[in-house]
This record gives sequence, structure tokens and C-alpha cells, in this order.
Amino acid sequence: MSKIIVTGGAGFIGANFVYYALKHRPDDEIICVDSLTYAGNLMTLEDALKNDKFTFEKADITDAEAIDAVFDKHKPDIVINFAAESHVDRSIEDPGLFLRTNILGTQVLMDASRKYNVKRYHQVGTDEVYGDLPLDRPDLFFTEETPIHTSSPYSASKASADLLVGAYQRTYGFPATISRCSNNYGPYHFPEKLIPLIIGRAKKDETLPVYGTGENVRDWLYVEDHCKAISMIIDNGRVGEVYNIGGHNERTNLDVVKTVLDILGKPHSLITYVTDRAGHDMRYAIDPTKITNELGWVPDTKFDDGIRLTVEWYDKNQEWLDNILSGDYEKYYDKMYSGR
Ligand code: NAD
Ligand code: TYD
Repeated sequence: MSKIIVTGGAGFIGANFVYYALKHRPDDEIICVDSLTYAGNLMTLEDALKNDKFTFEKADITDAEAIDAVFDKHKPDIVINFAAESHVDRSIEDPGLFLRTNILGTQVLMDASRKYNVKRYHQVGTDEVYGDLPLDRPDLFFTEETPIHTSSPYSASKASADLLVGAYQRTYGFPATISRCSNNYGPYHFPEKLIPLIIGRAKKDETLPVYGTGENVRDWLYVEDHCKAISMIIDNGRVGEVYNIGGHNERTNLDVVKTVLDILGKPHSLITYVTDRAGHDMRYAIDPTKITNELGWVPDTKFDDGIRLTVEWYDKNQEWLDNILSGDYEKYYDKMYSGR
């Protein structure tokens, strides 16, 4: 039995991990630490809050005193850091917040983990730290040896955090692992990101903003497969190692948008090309050989199945989506997309 602190558990992937752990790690206690930014939603954790193996603590990972109090109270065995500012477009608008949360927050969590002798610290990282691959070299993939080469303030902040984790591991013998995953999709995905944004808008027959030409390629992984990989890493991953996570599901953005429109029975004419994202990465593609060979991880869900499950989930959970698509989110959409 382990006590696991999950930071950012009220967000997309963290919440999916909370549910994965409550189901697949029934002996463990899960403590979610989240400051509930715009991306964190307690409605997402409604079912978890009914489980006596689950506790929620509202705290900001950059607040050393608050984090110390949470660690002192719960004495965790394992810490998994999902908490982050995660949206590239927002990082272009306000880099400072990304540096604070993603870098300094990681430092605060590692200092607390050292003080309370945590047995394993896991940093949830992203493949975006590797920069991008050219479209005309489909033979190239990101391995754990690919040089860090960031494009956005978001990816630079995540890369900085990874470097800091590596430095703590080497300097203090800190028991850390890092994973770098490709784009996730699935339930509870915040509708500022491509897939939930187009599901929500297509259902209302609204225009679908595709950046640039829509030829950019992302390597999509169903979120539950990411959660399974992290669960395997905290159990059997080697300290000091980086593990890439991805399932060879490369799709152009245009393909993804058309697939969603076809599932919903909506016309492709809803697609609208808008000004490209500054510094927009062309292609991400993961080579997951290391995690497959070392830990036996393979993804269970193919893109065509996962995307259907996702569209169905948003259909059944309209109230969750409506709750988010009101108030501040409307202002965000107008600010980011009007006149683009
Ligand atoms: P998200 O934006 O949906 O959720 C982030 C969560 O962190 C929210 O609940 C938010 O309230 C919380 N949070 C933010 N700042 C905080 C702070 N200072 N203190 C405490 N809590 C705070 O993000 P996500 O998509 O679930 O991503 C989770 C992690 O996975 C991030 O580290 C991200 O970089 C990484 N990642 C995401 C993807 C993806 O496709 N979404 C892919 C690879 C890696
Ligand atoms: P996003 O979901 O923001 O993830 P990331 O930037 O981390 O890959 O975007 C996925 C892709 O979709 C990316 O190439 C940018 C593109 N995109 C659009 O074309 N239109 C949109 O409105 C958004 C949010 C993203």
C-alpha cells in the first residue's frame, strides 16, 4: 500500500490518472493536490470524492509553506507531478506564469519530497521538449536521446523542469523518473485544446479554427494508455531514467478535424483556416521502444476507437462541457480567435 500525491489531479490527465489509480491500484491512497486554476475543475472529481481512498487538498505547488503542510499531513511514499500550465497558445500570451508554475513549482515539490523522504518522484513531461520533426522525413522519431530543442515558452518551461529533475537526481541521489508523452485525448480534456474544442463547436454548427494549412502532425494517445504507462513507471521504472510514451498514431490536424466531423455527421464546410500559431511545431512522433522493451507497456486503444469513445463521452457529459463553456471561457475564445 502506497500513499500517492497526484498534483494537478483536477485537470485532464491528472484526473484520468486519479480514476485509473482508484480502479487499478485499489490498495493505494490517492491525495490530489491542485490549486484549481481555470483548467482545474472539482466537478471532474465528483465521483472520486465519494471514494474513501481519495483526498483532495487545494494548494498551489509554487507555495512552499502550503506544500510543506500537505506533505507533513500525508507523508506520501510517491509523488506524481501533473500540475502545470499546459496550453501552448496561453504560453505565447503570458510566459511568466508558465515559468513560475512549471519550473518553480517543480522545485518546490522536489524540495518537499526530499525533506519527507519520498521513495519515488515522477515528473510528467511532454514530447514537445524535443521540438519538431520535418514532414518529409517520416522515418524520424523522438527517442530519449533526441536533443532538447524547444519552440514555445510552454515547451521551454517543461524542458527546464526536466533538466532540474535530472540535476536533483544526480546531485542529491533524488529518486526521480521522467516521462515524455505525445498529445493525449479522451474524457475531461479542457475545450481550449484541439479535439474537445472541435467536438464542442461542431455540435453547435460553429466554425472550426484550423491553424495555418492544417498539415501539422500530432501523435495522439488515448489518455488511459498514458495513465497505464505512468503506473508502470512508478512501480518498475529505473531511477534517473526518461521514458518516452506514444503509440504511433500520427494524424494531421486536418485529418483529426474531418474524422470528428464524420463521426458527428457534420459537414467539412465548418472548417475555417485561421492565422497560424507563432512558432508552430510541424510534426511530433514518439519512438516508444524503451518503455515497451523495459516495462512491457503497449497502448490498448487505437485512434479510430479512442476518438469515437471521446466523442461519445462528450455527448454523455454535456453538463460538464456546458459548465466550462460559460463565463471566463467565452471571454478566452473571443480574445484568442476574434480577427484571427
Ligand atoms: P491541464 O491544464 O488540463 O491540467 C493542469 C492541472 O494543474 C489543473 O487541474 C490545474 O488547476 C493544475 N494546476 C495548474 N497550476 C497549478 C499550481 N500552481 N498548483 C497546483 N495545481 C496547479 O493539463 P493536462 O493536459 O492534464 O496536463 C497534465 C500534465 O501532462 C502537464 O504537466 C502537461 O505538461 C503534461 N502533458 C500533457 C499532454 C497533453 O496532451 N495534454 C501531453 C504530454 C504531457
Ligand atoms: P493543441 O491541442 O493545442 O496541442 P499542442 O499544441 O500541445 O500540440 O493543438 C494540437 C494541434 O492543433 C496543434 O498543431 C495546433 C492545432 N490547433 C488548431 O489548428 N486549432 C485550434 O484551435 C487549436 C487549439 C489547435
